[in-house]
Amino acid sequence: MEQNKSPFVVTIMASPRPDGNVAKLLDAAERGAKDAGANVTRLTLSHMTLRPCIACMKCRTSGSCILPHDDAHDTATLLAKADSVIIATPVYWSSIPGTLKLLLDRLVYALIDTSAPGAMPKQLHHGARLGIICACTAPWPLSLTQTRPTVKALRRIFRLAGYTVYPAISVTGTNNTKPLKPAILKSATVLGSKLSVTCRSRNH
Ligand SMILES: Cc1cc2nc3c(=O)[nH]c(=O)nc-3n(C[C@H](O)[C@H](O)[C@H](O)COP(=O)(O)O)c2cc1C
Repeated sequence: MEQNKSPFVVTIMASPRPDGNVAKLLDAAERGAKDAGANVTRLTLSHMTLRPCIACMKCRTSGSCILPHDDAHDTATLLAKADSVIIATPVYWSSIPGTLKLLLDRLVYALIDTSAPGAMPKQLHHGARLGIICACTAPWPLSLTQTRPTVKALRRIFRLAGYTVYPAISVTGTNNTKPLKPAILKSATVLGSKLSVTCRSRNH
């Protein structure tokens, strides 16, 4: 008989600052997910050992990465089990930070199946969900030129992989000294609770 399982949420912390805005928003989102019954595992990029992709392209046919075992392999295993993923990232040069790009470059085989020559990539995460949290110093409306390409890059990758991508939470103008508004923290908590749902294709 099918057992009721708790949703499994993997969060990816792409800021190296443990007390920054991204951290505070991710804390709020994780609280929302946990309060809604999810098991949450956080991956902090600045604590991870990640070799850069060597573009050997072997993973495209083998479905595994030949590099010596590191945290990218473990991330692939976790993503295969996760009902939802939350990526919390600062904007660096109008895009995602290099560490996050490095991780995603290592995960192509774990996100899409491109083994059939000439065919469209196959989604490996159909039914899973993605939440995005992002922060930048640029004030509105300049911030739109910063957060949009950042969110778009993540949305494109994860949609290709079959994720349903929820509307992003962005905080802008972060170089003022004001604390985050309760409303934005609340929206992060709500995002976490909305992402606390099981995905049929997951077996964890
Ligand atoms: C290397 C680097 C590049 C950055 N590039 C941008 C940028 O292109 N646009 C922007 O608005 N802010 C940029 N920022 C500022 C961060 O996005 C901003 O401080 C953000 O709030 C950081 O969040 P955190 O303190 O939670 O890590 C950059 C910061 C760093 C360290």
